[in-house]
Amino acid sequence: MLTLAIETSCDETAAAVVLDGRMILGSVISSQVAVHAEYGGVVPEIASRKHLEAVAPVVTAALSQAGVTLDSIQGIVATKGPGLVGALLVGLSMAKGIAFVRELPFVGVHHIEGHLLAGFLERPVPFPFLALVVSGGHTHLYRVDGIGRYRQLGQTLDDAAGEAFDKTATLLGLGYPGGIVIDRLAGEGDPKRYPLPRPLLHDGSCNFSFSGLKTAVATLVRREGDQIKEGQPLRDLCASFQAAVTDVLVAKSAAALQGEGLTRLVVAGGVASNSGLRAGMHGLSRRIGVELFIPSPLLCTDNAAMIAVPGDFYLENGMCDDFTLDAVATWPLPMVTTQRWLP
Ligand code: KG4
Ligand code: ZN
Repeated sequence: MLTLAIETSCDETAAAVVLDGRMILGSVISSQVAVHAEYGGVVPEIASRKHLEAVAPVVTAALSQAGVTLDSIQGIVATKGPGLVGALLVGLSMAKGIAFVRELPFVGVHHIEGHLLAGFLERPVPFPFLALVVSGGHTHLYRVDGIGRYRQLGQTLDDAAGEAFDKTATLLGLGYPGGIVIDRLAGEGDPKRYPLPRPLLHDGSCNFSFSGLKTAVATLVRREGDQIKEGQPLRDLCASFQAAVTDVLVAKSAAALQGEGLTRLVVAGGVASNSGLRAGMHGLSRRIGVELFIPSPLLCTDNAAMIAVPGDFYLENGMCDDFTLDAVATWPLPMVTTQRWLP
């Protein structure tokens, strides 16, 4: 099945044309990041307006990249939530409009479901597996037994990992979103120079907490003064922070793999592009002999192709939504997503 997927949950307007939920024929992402950077975070009202401007050209560009027209599309997929409601509504309305006019089946999917299956576009992962989703809004561990069969094992109790990176970067004067800047600076720093806490490392749960880590950096900056925000001290601080986040994510993933008796690990979401985390996860994989799957960075950050993976599965199995489907801001990933189509 050839699907057209649209994703507008936050600050990226994305569309993709995907064959059988596995092969990307066209994928276009228009980022608003520069617009929001001057406000130090995503401004929901501006995001909605920017999505409105971008959505039609992005869909057209994805179709032309794929070398097809709407005549060839057999199903429409859009992100239903979670995310910014105004932003989601733009993509969802576009998807419904095309589906209505073209009389095509349409389905709304969970954004996180897209993240945890994004790697299938490069290499299918045999079920079951453990999935760590680390993004700007999420830090979750799931057991995945099949498409549509997820069990949440843990989540962050406060800030998401990406949020912690971004807030710490802002604190250090590195701009927004600064996760990638910390990553770059950390590459030239000493991760042992500043001992930072590893929150909830030994609490026996699969939950995370990152707000204390950000506070620890703030306390250090107050104590050491502004010179810590420059030169080698800054690089060492970035490396120390990144090592603290990585240690926690690696240790909790290891415990969850062991607890669930799983031998495959998927790491997904924007923070999965972080080089320290990737290295830490590769180390874990070698140490305990689990198979590791991390999508390439372009599939880790928000994109539309990833939501076509579950979308294609639902459409192929006759699970469609009708045009009353609404966007949702908060939506825990259901254990069995297919249940919502049962009578
Ligand atoms: O998945 P994503 O694109 O959007 C959400 O669904 O949130 O993730 C964005 C998050 C941001 O917090 C961004 O700073 C972080 O991923 N991020 C990184 C890196 N690249 C993106 N964090 C650390 N290191 C990176 N290389
Ligand atoms: Zn995302």
